[in-house]
Amino acid sequence: MMGNDGHRGWVYYLGVLPAWRRGGIARPLMVQAEQWMCARGVPKMHAMIRHDNLEVRSFYTALGYADDDVLVVEKFLNGQSKT
Ligand SMILES: CC(C)(COP(=O)(O)OP(=O)(O)OC[C@H]1O[C@@H](n2cnc3c(N)ncnc32)[C@H](O)[C@@H]1OP(=O)(O)O)[C@@H](O)C(=O)NCCC(=O)NCCS
Repeated sequence: MMGNDGHRGWVYYLGVLPAWRRGGIARPLMVQAEQWMCARGVPKMHAMIRHDNLEVRSFYTALGYADDDVLVVEKFLNGQSKT
């Protein structure tokens, strides 16, 4: 899933079944996503990754992505809490 606000492109929920990982599936999906953004004049790509998700961090590092010094804040609007 992906979207953009005209300046930032976002990728969400990129996932490959465990049995198919490390088979070169996600890399071309991200190439397509980046091309889709470029075609719309979006200059930057972002993904939110949990700090402890080392597998996904390694994947994005391999694709040339770097850590950004940004804090993500959230608020549940349906009465839910994080715990
Ligand atoms: C991240 C994920 C989508 C990668 O999918 P994939 O199809 O296995 O990725 P690719 O095979 O295209 O990998 C491209 C490169 O990324 C790097 N990479 C991928 N998985 C890696 C891992 N577990 N550890 C280190 N490097 C990794 C490698 O450099 C790899 O190239 P190589 O296989 O030639 O070494 C997959 O591991 C996944 O579904 N993870 C769990 C779901 C998830 O948490 N998604 C993110 C939500 S934010």
